[in-house]
Amino acid sequence: MEKIIFEKVTSTTEETEECGALLASLIGADPAMPQFVSLVGDLGTGKTAFVRGFASLAAAGAAVRSPTYTLVNEYRSKGRPVFHFDVYRINDEDDLYSIGFYDYLDEGICLVEWCDLIPYALPDRYISVTLEKLPEDVALRRVRVSLVSKGE
Ligand SMILES: Nc1ncnc2c1ncn2[C@@H]1O[C@H](COP(=O)(O)OP(=O)(O)OP(=O)(O)O)[C@@H](O)[C@H]1O
Ligand SMILES: [Mg+2]
Repeated sequence: MEKIIFEKVTSTTEETEECGALLASLIGADPAMPQFVSLVGDLGTGKTAFVRGFASLAAAGAAVRSPTYTLVNEYRSKGRPVFHFDVYRINDEDDLYSIGFYDYLDEGICLVEWCDLIPYALPDRYISVTLEKLPEDVALRRVRVSLVSKGE
């Protein structure tokens, strides 16, 4: 089952960051929200920008960088730690185990760029963020945030 939480069309990086901050505020306000966020979208659609906005609230003061090479970055401040993954270079589940992917899940909020490449690792309930470029203008993005529950 998939239930849309919010959907916006953004025309600047900052607006996409604000979508991330909005999700962080919703997760912060509701303990029943999943702590796993899948980010799916083509190259340069704004996945990292979304995480930057998310972390500006959930881990204020942390410098968000793309974990393209490090595979995971940790952002810590007052609340739960935020783990920012980029699994673009992950080949299979062995790779995931070798970076300790599953050990992070209980430790904090996980946001995973290119999560569509690791469908087998999705928890039963998670937040799905999809980002799409719109053809009308190079700066337009459709950002859709929804709650997904498997098997319901
Ligand atoms: N509306 C918008 N929202 C987000 N980014 C935008 C927007 N318009 C233009 N951009 C530009 O698109 C790029 C998005 O980069 P970002 O690193 O966030 O994407 P990404 O999806 O994480 O890319 P990658 O697939 O390489 O990880 C930036 O250069 C940003 O300035
Ligand atoms: Mg990125």
